[in-house]
Amino acid sequence: MDTSYENVRNRLRDQRILLVGGAGFIGHNLALELRSVGADVMVVDNLMVNSLIENVYDGGQNPVQNRAYRNFLLDRFELLRGAGVALRNADARILGDLNRVFDEYQPTKAVHLAAISSAVDARLNPGLCFDLQLITLRNVLELCRTSHRQQVNQVMLLSSSTVYGDFEGDTVDEATRPRPRGIYANAKYMAERLLRTYSHQEGLGISIVRPSALYGERCKSRRVSQVFIENALTGKPLRLEGGGSGRLDFTYIADLVDGIARALAFHRGPKTSDTFNITFGNARTVAELAAVVKDVVHDANVVEAPRAEGKPVRGTLSTVRAERELGFKAKWPLEVGYRKYCEWYAEQWQRAKVDALANR
Ligand SMILES: NC(=O)c1ccc[n+]([C@@H]2O[C@H](COP(=O)([O-])OP(=O)(O)OC[C@H]3O[C@@H](n4cnc5c(N)ncnc54)[C@H](O)[C@@H]3O)[C@@H](O)[C@H]2O)c1
Repeated sequence: MDTSYENVRNRLRDQRILLVGGAGFIGHNLALELRSVGADVMVVDNLMVNSLIENVYDGGQNPVQNRAYRNFLLDRFELLRGAGVALRNADARILGDLNRVFDEYQPTKAVHLAAISSAVDARLNPGLCFDLQLITLRNVLELCRTSHRQQVNQVMLLSSSTVYGDFEGDTVDEATRPRPRGIYANAKYMAERLLRTYSHQEGLGISIVRPSALYGERCKSRRVSQVFIENALTGKPLRLEGGGSGRLDFTYIADLVDGIARALAFHRGPKTSDTFNITFGNARTVAELAAVVKDVVHDANVVEAPRAEGKPVRGTLSTVRAERELGFKAKWPLEVGYRKYCEWYAEQWQRAKVDALANR
């Protein structure tokens, strides 16, 4: 198969792609990528997680941080509008509301992104984690199985590297047996099983994507990659638990959306099913992450801290399958992608300081 990006363009040009939970970090970046290759895109989101509502209304204690996050969120909407992405405010847990969006848009592909996207937050609210991941997915699958069966050729699920659980070796691939731990990872695994069941039983075309440890512009999920650069800019310590020896397959958002666009373009249609790790494909230590921050913010204060009990043991997600079948090749190693992100973050922090001072 011709897996050039030109062919991604050819294959997606006629597609109408609905992103459920698409106003979030991955969703809005994906929407922009899909528009750039000529696809028609609609986002449906109830703006419930990591949203303007909590950020603007509740505010938070730190005015600069508040401005910065507000800017990230408002910029998402500006970018989406500027790129011609349609946005509908609806709750995907409610079948009737989602049905109205499906009826209006008549998507040919649906990408499911809705979730409490942090395993830590999901643990605090397991019932909501279940509903946002699984009730929303059930509704998407039911609509694709029944009233919209004729036009939908693919349903994609954003799963997670956490389905693998604690890594036994250095690297996992898609054939490694999942051993999820905790509500977030188990709900992802259940979602994968649900998707495969609809594929086997109902003939839906499905794809599962497993990303890992993402970082990138306009994320406000406060994972370690964001916390480190923000702490460096505000004089707070960067804590290296257990000496920073924990390893994660850190992935820049540009690599993920490139891989997802390929998985959407080269899918083989109804009745077919595929699963891809889409990551950088080489785990790096948290200490290496901190070193990049230190390179950008020279006086960053890096401190050693005891290793936290129960931290998952992770490593590399092999991307060999995505390379072979989709022509995917990650382009952004930590020293390039994370550095670019840290520089962007520093500029954004400066912008937020000016905004906060002017009380804009
Ligand atoms: N960011 C990562 O590092 C990462 C890694 C692996 C997997 N994932 C998965 O990718 C997906 C997207 O992650 P993200 O980082 O963009 O998260 P995010 O929190 O930025 O986006 C999730 C979006 O889903 C929306 N949503 C939640 N419930 C909804 C509902 N009932 N109806 C409509 N919209 C709803 C939220 O409002 C939010 O905009 C999630 O499923 C997450 O678990 C993320």
